[in-house]
Amino acid sequence: MDSTELFTMATEAASRSYSPYSRFRVGAALLCDDGSVVTAANVENRSFGMTICAERSALVAALAQGKKGFTALAISCPDATYPVSPCGACRQVLSEFVSAGFPIRFGGSDGRIVDTTMGELMPFDALHELSDR
Ligand code: THU
Repeated sequence: MDSTELFTMATEAASRSYSPYSRFRVGAALLCDDGSVVTAANVENRSFGMTICAERSALVAALAQGKKGFTALAISCPDATYPVSPCGACRQVLSEFVSAGFPIRFGGSDGRIVDTTMGELMPFDALHELSDR
């Protein structure tokens, strides 16, 4: 499973988004260390604050399936003409379960891809500083 394939799976997952309010579909594909991939999409609600992002949805689904370790995450936003990075809430939740070097790829519809890491998206994270020792 390479990062291009993982990104394609994230784009496919975006088609399952429930986003009637924003009309902004997001898909996430989380590669687990057992080789499986858990995909998810954003799920909105008429009470807007209840919206769940694709990234958190994928992570929580994977954990609920018993996945313990994670290898990479791809996020695809086909309705954006620019690469969309994970929101602050998703960075915080992800950082609980992955280390600083964890690769994260994101892109929109214009073909630009950003390859980054958990540590770049959330530097000086105390949990990482403790767990990476
Ligand atoms: N969204 C995500 O699912 N992930 C992101 O990284 C950015 C935002 C969702 C939340 C909401 O359903 C829609 O995109 C617009 O913000």
